Amino acid sequence: MHLLSALAFRSISDLTKQYGPLMRLKLGEVDTIVVSSRDLAREMLKQHDPCYADRPDSIGIKVLWYNYRDIAFSPYGDYWRQMRKICIMELLSPRSVRSFASIRRDEVSNLISSIRTSAAIGEPVNISESIFSMMSSVTCRAAFGKVSKDKDTLIKILRDGIQMAGGFEIADFFPSSLLINTFSWTKIRLLMMRHKLDLILDDLIRQHQLSLAKIGSGSEEGDRARKGNGEFGNEDIVDVLLRLQETGELQFPIRKEDIKAVVYDMFSAGTETSSTAMDWAMAELMRNPGAMAKAQAEVRRVFNDTTIMVMGDNDPNLKYLKLVIREALRMHPPVPILPRASREERVIDGYVIPANVKVLVNNWGMQRDPAYWTNPDSFEPERFEECSKEFLGADFDFLPFGAGKRMCPGITFAMASVELVLAQLLYHFDWKLPNGAQPESMDMIENPGVTASRRDSLFAIPTPYKNSA
Ligand code: HEM
Repeated sequence: MHLLSALAFRSISDLTKQYGPLMRLKLGEVDTIVVSSRDLAREMLKQHDPCYADRPDSIGIKVLWYNYRDIAFSPYGDYWRQMRKICIMELLSPRSVRSFASIRRDEVSNLISSIRTSAAIGEPVNISESIFSMMSSVTCRAAFGKVSKDKDTLIKILRDGIQMAGGFEIADFFPSSLLINTFSWTKIRLLMMRHKLDLILDDLIRQHQLSLAKIGSGSEEGDRARKGNGEFGNEDIVDVLLRLQETGELQFPIRKEDIKAVVYDMFSAGTETSSTAMDWAMAELMRNPGAMAKAQAEVRRVFNDTTIMVMGDNDPNLKYLKLVIREALRMHPPVPILPRASREERVIDGYVIPANVKVLVNNWGMQRDPAYWTNPDSFEPERFEECSKEFLGADFDFLPFGAGKRMCPGITFAMASVELVLAQLLYHFDWKLPNGAQPESMDMIENPGVTASRRDSLFAIPTPYKNSA
């Protein structure tokens, strides 16, 4: 245990260099298997997929994600399947994602306006904060029909929670210790955060119920055309879950706690990972002025002042920008370790992997392994011109969205925002670091937690592009 630093994915990558791609660590009471080669990852996540489709326990997740009643951390099985299907159909399908295009454009346009205000007075912009706040508004509007009035408190709970949810808290290592689990400061902090989260989510559900009752009564002209609380008069994900709860049509009846778990899941998964990906991509571009110039030239060649504002999703002309995004996801996967647990005993590569052990697929380590990548620590988007590796779960040394049954269902939702935001930031502004800082002095270290955001916020001074209105 003493060999693990707060950035566990870095420590286990160091240990892998010494002990090989399949390690068994005894962390307190918890048996942990670490997998760091693409062949083993393929074998476990593809050939033996359902066997490794559980998630491990973590005190932070248990408390903040409602006893694993969400999707991301719930045990593999019918309840998980049911809830995952609802979210994919209502929020994450390509059709739903397309329907949110106006929300994305609206929020990005607010972002660009606020950066313009800073540019006018020559002030540096906190790009990390701006992106995070914008992305949380996109998620709130798409999932809950409007920006929550408690968005800032939700963000605070999310950020603190993520740091405590990596599965490397002392209470995670001694799950059977009543003393540690009842009185640990971690547990007390988590319960306080959960209390605040409950108040916010209870209020969100109550507001939805009140408004649905009003819509149902058809009392006002506007209400009669509406089906739910979604921005376009449709049902949002909270409405859908409330309706399914009422009709009781499901195999697993939905309780209020389940709705809160899924709502918080969508907010957290939708906001944190996508903004982390954008932040790293911007940070790498700032550190690599050649790549920045190339990406900017492309965006400015493809768009002009009118077309940039109506830019669609996944524009095939943004070839270099797509390489930049892929390279940023390779070097800085927002989820650095795929957290899994084994459901049965299996023999992998001649070793017995027991049932019910924690399995960590060391994504970060594989994506920087010199056996698979030339110059793995340098940011070279051009590498993907030659190499056909994709992040769709078939190339097992490049798994930023995971693979197999538990693979991320939010890729389309995420990529629509990541490409749009980066294109707009690059089109409208030239960027330089404040106080004459040099690109190579930028610190590229991560925050600890279940996701790996950049530890330092990215500050930069924007200069509006001459053709940008
Ligand atoms: C760049 C952005 C994103 C990245 C890098 C990312 C990455 C990941 C990864 C690595 C996993 C675990 C996969 C595995 O264990 O194999 C995951 C799971 C998940 N992601 Fe994402 N994600 C992103 C955006 C999103 C968005 C926008 C949403 C929804 C709004 C979302 C929803 C989920 C959910 C619900 C799960 C759990 C799936 C399950 O356990 O069945 N993600 N994501």
